[in-house]
Amino acid sequence: MRTDTPQYGDSWDTYWSATEEQQETSLWDAPAELASAVDLPRFAAHLDRDKVLIDLGCGNGTQTRYLAQHFGHVIGADVSPAAIKAATAADPDTSYMVLDLFDTPAVEALHERLGDANIYMRTVLHQILPEHRPAFARSLRTLLGTTGVLAFVELAPTAEQYLHDLVERHGPPPGLTRVLSTGVRPGSVDGPEALALLGSDAFTVLAEGDSLVHTTFTLPNGQRAQVPAYFMALRHTTGQPSAPRAGD
Ligand SMILES: C[S@@+](CC[C@H](N)C(=O)[O-])C[C@H]1O[C@@H](n2cnc3c(N)ncnc32)[C@H](O)[C@@H]1O
Repeated sequence: MRTDTPQYGDSWDTYWSATEEQQETSLWDAPAELASAVDLPRFAAHLDRDKVLIDLGCGNGTQTRYLAQHFGHVIGADVSPAAIKAATAADPDTSYMVLDLFDTPAVEALHERLGDANIYMRTVLHQILPEHRPAFARSLRTLLGTTGVLAFVELAPTAEQYLHDLVERHGPPPGLTRVLSTGVRPGSVDGPEALALLGSDAFTVLAEGDSLVHTTFTLPNGQRAQVPAYFMALRHTTGQPSAPRAGD
């Protein structure tokens, strides 16, 4: 690996190793009913069943396990070996692999093996630093090829203010403190920026809208903190067979 390659693996593996060892819960680790099960109806019409669906940045696999019940071939991929170990232990029947999106040869080899893939990605892009996002997007494009669909959920630009207010009112959620202490630096990426990263001239928006990321932090009123977010599905313009029909 080149020395100028961004090193997200170190901080994330430190985070996941400690989380698993101490049996802690991650802030974003809501049950699938509040996450991928809500997302799937938004994306399902755009995801060909004959392609592999990669849950990219799958963490401990909570969402991957749900996706694997609905798609024939799902792979959970994450930069952290500790996360992949936990995901595999919880779900030995689904394929999981360690993959750093900045490891270009590994990304190219995966595309060679799978062909064009669909990608589900929940709350991953915002923690990639702005200067690393173009390289991250290049790898996404490699995995998608011309016919894969990128279906993702990301924190909205207003998430930062929401989290700031949350900390002011209720103190820092332990899950947030733990992830920040490993050097992970969350930011935000809005929809137009995400599209521009992929290539506005080359990618078409198939679906988009507002969403919420349900957290594992319980507010005094008994509800979960819910962070403002949005969803989007994108496909390479040349690979778009036809506009999906309503009800598909
Ligand atoms: C906020 S967590 C979201 C986990 C999961 N998508 C979910 O919703 O439960 C972000 C995940 O992205 C992974 N990640 C960070 N950088 C990555 C990279 N360069 N390549 C692959 N995965 C990465 C982290 O290890 C972490 O599991």
